[in-house]
Formats: sequence, structure tokens, C-alpha cells
Amino acid sequence: MPVVRGKLIEPLFTAEQIAERNRAIAAQIATRPAKDLLVIAILKGSFIFAADLLRALHDVGLAPEVEFITLSSYGTGTVSQGVRIVKDIDSDVKDRDVLLIDDILESGRTLLFAKQMLYERGANSVSIAVLLDKRVKRKEDLEADFVGFECPDYFVVGYGMDAAYAFRELPFVGVVTGDA
Ligand code: IMP
Ligand code: MG
Repeated sequence: MPVVRGKLIEPLFTAEQIAERNRAIAAQIATRPAKDLLVIAILKGSFIFAADLLRALHDVGLAPEVEFITLSSYGTGTVSQGVRIVKDIDSDVKDRDVLLIDDILESGRTLLFAKQMLYERGANSVSIAVLLDKRVKRKEDLEADFVGFECPDYFVVGYGMDAAYAFRELPFVGVVTGDA
């Protein structure tokens, strides 16, 4: 089992499995007609997924514009109560088809906030691609249009996702199981 920073990390989704799902998601996205497609990656957690999915989109013939938004949830302790924009996009979304990319869809608060905000700014359509769907944790009535994997209710790390700022660099998604 991989050991990183003295911790045992049990792989949940391997780099190969993720690459295969990215190709499949890109193929699905390519079947949808989009005008002037704008991809918005939600930082920080989605940065590796977005980078790989964008290259898979290129491989299926798409040429989107790419933007980044940094969102943060706030609240007391571990209970998140709201979402705020830390760093906004620069582009105008009016009349455009937007694809939001995030790492995990959990309560749905982050992506619901982003989706509603983009519609308020006049987007023509807003669809959602997530690497992982943690369905059991959902609090909002929101579904992703494109999903890499259904995720069991573990706290996962790697492939962009962190635990206390660590493990984002791992090429796979895993679970910290203990000390090495
Ligand atoms: P929600 O859907 O608004 O609850 O928030 C989902 C966000 O919480 C994701 O974009 C991640 O940044 C973070 N998150 C949720 N679950 C995990 C996890 O298991 N590992 C790392 N980050 C997580
Ligand atoms: Mg996130």
C-alpha cells in the first residue's frame, strides 16, 4: 500500500481507472451540442481532474475556453452553511453554454451556488461534471450531468483533493487508513 507523509493510503480509484472514466466522460460531453463552450474549473480540488478532462475533451475534438473560480464554504467547524466566491472568473457568461468541473459532489451546496450564480449572470446552459459523486451526503436537490465514479462515504484524498492541505499530488484517489 502506498505510504505518503508516514500515512498508509489505500487506493480507491487508480490512475488507470480515472483515465478511462475521463475518456468516457469526454465522449459523453462531445455528444451534446454547445455553442461557445466555457469550461469553469472550481478550485482548488478540481485542478487535476480539470486538467486531464480538458485534454480528453481536446482528444474528442472540443476546443472550450477555460476559466477558474475559487469557491469556499464557510460555517461553524465542520458544518458548512454557505458558499462564497474567493476569486471570480474574468469572462462574461451571458448566452454561453457552461460546463462546471468539480472534484466531488457532496452536499451539493458548492455546485448549486455556482450553477445558480451562472444562470443569474445569463448563461444559456450550465452542466456539471464531477469526478466523484457522494450521493449519501446530498443536502440539495442537485445531480451532476457527468460523473466519474459513485463514491462511498469515505473522506478521500489525492488527484487534487486534500486532507489538511496534504495529498493533492497523488495520481490516484485513496483513503488514509492509518500510520505506516
Ligand atoms: P459540497 O458538495 O458543497 O458539500 O462540497 C463538496 C466539496 O467539499 C468538494 O468540492 C471538496 O472540495 C470537498 N470535499 C467533500 N468531500 C471530500 C473528501 O472526501 N475529500 C476531500 N474533499 C472533499
Ligand atoms: Mg472543492
